[in-house]
Amino acid sequence: MSKLLPFVRRVSGAVPDQNAGTGRMSNAEKFISIEGIARRYPVPGGRTTTIFENLWLAMRRGEFVCMIGHSGCGKTTVLNILAGLEAPSEGAVIVDGQGIAGTSLDRAVIFQGHALLPWRSVLGNVAYAVSSRWRKAPRAEIEARARRAIATVGLAGSEHKRPSELSGGMKQRVGIARALSIEPKILLMDEPFSALDALTRGTLQDEVRRICVETGQTVFMITHDVDEAIYLADRIVLMTNGPEAKVAEIVENPLPTNRDRTQLHHAPGYYALRNHLIDFLVTRSRTLREAMPEGYDPRHPPIVRPSSGEPDAAELGPPPPARRA
Ligand SMILES: Nc1ncnc2c1ncn2[C@@H]1O[C@H](COP(=O)(O)OP(=O)(O)OP(=O)(O)O)[C@@H](O)[C@H]1O
Ligand SMILES: [Mg+2]
Repeated sequence: MSKLLPFVRRVSGAVPDQNAGTGRMSNAEKFISIEGIARRYPVPGGRTTTIFENLWLAMRRGEFVCMIGHSGCGKTTVLNILAGLEAPSEGAVIVDGQGIAGTSLDRAVIFQGHALLPWRSVLGNVAYAVSSRWRKAPRAEIEARARRAIATVGLAGSEHKRPSELSGGMKQRVGIARALSIEPKILLMDEPFSALDALTRGTLQDEVRRICVETGQTVFMITHDVDEAIYLADRIVLMTNGPEAKVAEIVENPLPTNRDRTQLHHAPGYYALRNHLIDFLVTRSRTLREAMPEGYDPRHPPIVRPSSGEPDAAELGPPPPARRA
């Protein structure tokens, strides 16, 4: 439990690079590196529409990153590209030093719909994933791994239930257990709690946060819920409206790693952060789409810490955008 997420350690890269000393993430720190990706679709008339282009984003190992932006800006597309479910029209994604090509058991996806196999029990659903990871493992080991993952999400005792016998929250837990059971390097979550009632959502957020802090899991999660992002994320990526959406800025969460949901609103920086995110969604996601601030560099989107009211100058690259909450 005491294991801190690596992001809180300000590791300076062992390999000198152009970002050294700038406060930006060094190449050595980049566990996931989205490098100049674009996604275009053909439209009638032989032209194409650009959902986004020249999109850059890097994540450290063990970081929990949330992406927020209005519907249609391309969040799911980014996640699908990270998962290897679709290829970018341009650019590349590097994970742990290797360009990705297609899906991998190292990158588990949790969708909003849990997509369980209805004819299999909870244990069967999770064991199926485990056996695809460890194909030659003896049955007893597969079952033991599956049971451990099921217990982690609080479903011990429900191993033999079928999905039809589970509530929405329980099904989503099975989806999370299934993803965790294969011990992925990266968890990709697309609005995983949005279909749940508030109480279940809160409980599952607590569990996901606990599991991620304990295991040091690297997570990329899409959400529309500002409070969910504040509670879960180490950094929050803000996307402008589409088409041609951009990473407007990356907001560093100033709240302590040991977060208590009931006390969050007393934490220094909480209201500044929340106001900043809401202001972004209400106005800046649209106005920034029309015109990014002079000097905006898509390769190094501004990093903002609303807690201090101003971005940390050391974290900024070229001239910063309008950034007050
Ligand atoms: N196969 C496709 N052909 C054409 N356009 C597509 C296709 N798939 C997605 N798009 C477009 O790409 C854009 C981004 O879609 P995406 O699903 O990534 O958005 P999103 O940010 O996840 O939205 P939401 O918040 O509603 O889930 C949308 O405008 C969508 O219409
Ligand atoms: Mg989506």
